[in-house]
Amino acid sequence: LNSVPLRHFLDLKDLDTATLRQIIDTAAGMKRMQQGRRFPLHPRQPLAGRQLGLIMSKPSTRTRVSFEVGMRQLGGDAVVLSPQEMQIGRGESIADTARVLSRFVDAIVLRTGHTSNLHDLARWSSVPVINGLTPDSHPVQIMADVMTFEEHRGPVKGRTFAWTGDGNNVLVSLIEGAVRFGFTLRAATPASMKPPQAVLDWALREGGKVEWTADPRAAVIGADCVVTDTWTSMSDSEAEASVRAERLEPYRVTTELMALADPQALFMHCLPAHIGEEVTQDVFESRHSVVFDEAENRLHAQKGILAWALGGPNWTSFGKEQ
Ligand code: CP
Ligand code: NVA
Repeated sequence: LNSVPLRHFLDLKDLDTATLRQIIDTAAGMKRMQQGRRFPLHPRQPLAGRQLGLIMSKPSTRTRVSFEVGMRQLGGDAVVLSPQEMQIGRGESIADTARVLSRFVDAIVLRTGHTSNLHDLARWSSVPVINGLTPDSHPVQIMADVMTFEEHRGPVKGRTFAWTGDGNNVLVSLIEGAVRFGFTLRAATPASMKPPQAVLDWALREGGKVEWTADPRAAVIGADCVVTDTWTSMSDSEAEASVRAERLEPYRVTTELMALADPQALFMHCLPAHIGEEVTQDVFESRHSVVFDEAENRLHAQKGILAWALGGPNWTSFGKEQ
């Protein structure tokens, strides 16, 4: 097992504020550098020769493409694997898979339906492991969300985010992000879909400004950013989708609900969206909505994470003009 701590990116709570801030600033720097530049986007190719392995056990558009393209833009390469094509699908253990892949690639991104697989992979891998979504969290998404808010509205610290909808994996990472980046978060979910108490207790212990309520209106009043996500996540049973939808109906982001937020409030959604369920078409297409900037910033945020995980001691220079 590893004697030197690896730069795993498993959950925002595991990383300190200074590191997370540097990742965002490096990502923003790389984005600025590539504006107006065609090819190569990063002439120094700082990750040349490096290989990223992506194990995607669940569908993905943004996470897969942003990591794969991001790695290539930085001069490296990526191999995308699905468990059906791997021996994992026939029962090879995560421990053995981790020890084998560690000899081929320099970092591994995992999207999995079982959170324990992520932790097993990190335990046995001798290269950094990045959480590409589990049923319990989606930290790489929140890095892009913080970056997007700051691009539009300046520093996130001291601002207020509201969540209305399911208490899912994206909300858990948003709670952890609120604590680490110092913004207030008011989360409204039905009582039966409340985020895990352990996460709320952790936020409290860390001195975070995170509140839960069952009332979406109370959460949204005066907020600088309103966030939601699908009512049925990949880890939820489709058989329960209609019961969930019934319970979540009052949590839909509508024009009326957005009107309670700050007039300059942003609307965010990690995508894919289900128009008419968690958000109406008019909000999704409104001047508040920054959902496609948010999706674009997955690329830059992911490059920031790759720079940190693989870039060595001078990784923050990836975001500085050469
Ligand atoms: N938001 C997000 O993670 O999208 P994908 O499922 O397409 O990766
Ligand atoms: N909460 C959603 C996010 C998808 C990116 C899910 O887990 O399916």
